Amino acid sequence: MSTHINAPEGAIAPNVLLPGDPLRAKFIAENFLENAKCYNEVRGMFGFTGTYKGVPVSVQGTGMGQPSLSIYATELFKFYNVQTAIRVGTCGAVSEKTQLRDTILVNSACSDSCLLNQRFGNMHFAPTASFELVKAADKVAGEMGIRYCVGSVASSDFFYDKNENWKKWAEYGVLGIEMESAELFTLAAEYKRRAMAIMTVSDHILLGGATTAEERQTTFTNMMKVALETIVAVNK
Ligand code: HPA
Repeated sequence: MSTHINAPEGAIAPNVLLPGDPLRAKFIAENFLENAKCYNEVRGMFGFTGTYKGVPVSVQGTGMGQPSLSIYATELFKFYNVQTAIRVGTCGAVSEKTQLRDTILVNSACSDSCLLNQRFGNMHFAPTASFELVKAADKVAGEMGIRYCVGSVASSDFFYDKNENWKKWAEYGVLGIEMESAELFTLAAEYKRRAMAIMTVSDHILLGGATTAEERQTTFTNMMKVALETIVAVNK
């Protein structure tokens, strides 16, 4: 039991997918996992455990933004001994290298968040995904034949960013803007666990355009499959 996750010890698998949206967690559990059981309903932040191709997998909503993700990821690492965490979510693209509906395998995450400042002061930590996970995901996505690229995102504290900070990140090769990955990678470093993020480009900030709700459903499917097959690959 922990404060925000009300599950008994052993109820959560060592491998966890982390969507921001708790209803997305439910969708993944119902459509991709076998024998999925709900272990958490506190604050409506659903968590489920089931199996995928025989491998135990949990899927836990994190809410939006780094402070919210930080609560759930900390409890998963600290109290439930989670070893592998893959964030699955959407981002706004800021690079011509990636198009609407593409998948991004995130290998590093810049941030404007003061969570990093509070930990590191004037030092600048580089939140980095697990190479083992990124390598496995790259193989899986390549074999699936989907459109994808590997690179960095920026985890912003703003969704509505009047300062347009994305332009600066874009100058330095960042592919997309989202709101959670940097904190996940930093916590994984602290707890010595494996983490990465897999994003679907839901809107294009640089070139314009957004996906419809129906399209988001199908492109999400690629992202889920890559994440779940990556978990299978690293558990062999
Ligand atoms: N900004 C931040 N997070 C996002 C965006 C965005 O434009 N699109 C999807 N998640």
